[in-house]
Amino acid sequence: FDAVDLIKAKRDGRVLSTPEIDWLISRYANGYVGDEQMAAMAMAIFLNGMERTEIRDMTLAMIASGERMNFDGLGKVTVDKHSTGGVGDKITLPLMPLVASFGVAVPQLSGRGLGHTGGTLDKLEAIPGWRAELSNEEMFTLLQEIGGVICAAGAGLAPADKKLYALRDITGTVECIPLIASSIMSKKIAEGTDSLVLDVKFGSGSFMGDIERSRALAETMVALGEDAGVRTSALLTNMNVPLGLAIGNANEVRESVEVLAGGGPADVVELTVELAREMLRLAGQPDADVEGALKNGAAMDVWRRWVSAQDGDPDGALPVARETHQVRADRDGVLVRQEALPFGIAAWRLGAGRARKQDPVIHSAGIDLAAKPGDAVKKGDVLFTLSAEDAARFPRALEALEGAYEIGDAGSEILTGGPLIA
Ligand code: URA
Repeated sequence: FDAVDLIKAKRDGRVLSTPEIDWLISRYANGYVGDEQMAAMAMAIFLNGMERTEIRDMTLAMIASGERMNFDGLGKVTVDKHSTGGVGDKITLPLMPLVASFGVAVPQLSGRGLGHTGGTLDKLEAIPGWRAELSNEEMFTLLQEIGGVICAAGAGLAPADKKLYALRDITGTVECIPLIASSIMSKKIAEGTDSLVLDVKFGSGSFMGDIERSRALAETMVALGEDAGVRTSALLTNMNVPLGLAIGNANEVRESVEVLAGGGPADVVELTVELAREMLRLAGQPDADVEGALKNGAAMDVWRRWVSAQDGDPDGALPVARETHQVRADRDGVLVRQEALPFGIAAWRLGAGRARKQDPVIHSAGIDLAAKPGDAVKKGDVLFTLSAEDAARFPRALEALEGAYEIGDAGSEILTGGPLIA
């Protein structure tokens, strides 16, 4: 094959064959097909889409570019969750120990944040000493002894996707169902999990925006999982409003620990519980008392053992920012609107996220919400607090938040963009 011919074929709307896709992805992985050619191909796919068969071939080719993990020797059912990403989405933190407390194994290979969406590993690195990089042997041991692991995906897993995702990120080709679905599912299938629950976000703070595109993404990914022999299901969940009260890193760990202690914001608890139920259903435990495990300390017990096993101190002090800035209500009324995307961008500008892959995140930076849509507020009440190491970051964060929230009269319509779980 010839890369230029394949690019022209996709540009002109032709369906690529299995051997063509295999060739393209394997030659891209080994550097024979260049970034500039793959960028053109990604844009052709973005504009013309892919058939189901092509998406499946693309996924399998990306899996074949690297190693495939195998947890058969564990003697436990493995079940994983993947979220398409959002603002304040710290659910993996309470969810992994909660599900692991039921004796199943949760191999949660996670990523770092880019842009306005946070990354699970970045959040956890706020815990003093905690280590994201584990060898395959360490992963296996933790799954055996504790039941869960949250760690960085090794470089060996779907390396073609790693390369392609970085390229898409700088060529305006991220928000594309065939590319997102094959990217996510290649990693999850290569990870070797028996079952997988997808938390597919819809709304302004998500990749896809509208709910119908999110549904199409969910259906595409579920079909890819099932075709590969992974029991897969999906929840569609609201990312029009930030999840919980904490947006950042250290503060999201704090909120997760509250959930594990039986408290925490209602939306975070609800989503954690629903995802845990679905994961345990796929793992053969449909009647597990998920809420009980949050209330009776079983999930917290796994959390503490697991944090220690990855060299973190579960009692260590989390970083606190040097500077804070409070934003207060300018009238009495009800908070009617609070948009995820601008809050995500503001937290990012405070230092909670990174602008370039190689940048560090500032673990203490972020936003703590004091009110959620539907809450009554009085003039002078704190609506939210910005935290940063340097007060010079506040003006740009506040700029992002202009028009992002609104106080209305009592009885006004509350704009949440739909139910938490659709
Ligand atoms: N996450 C991924 O891993 N890949 C995508 O394409 C989008 C989100």
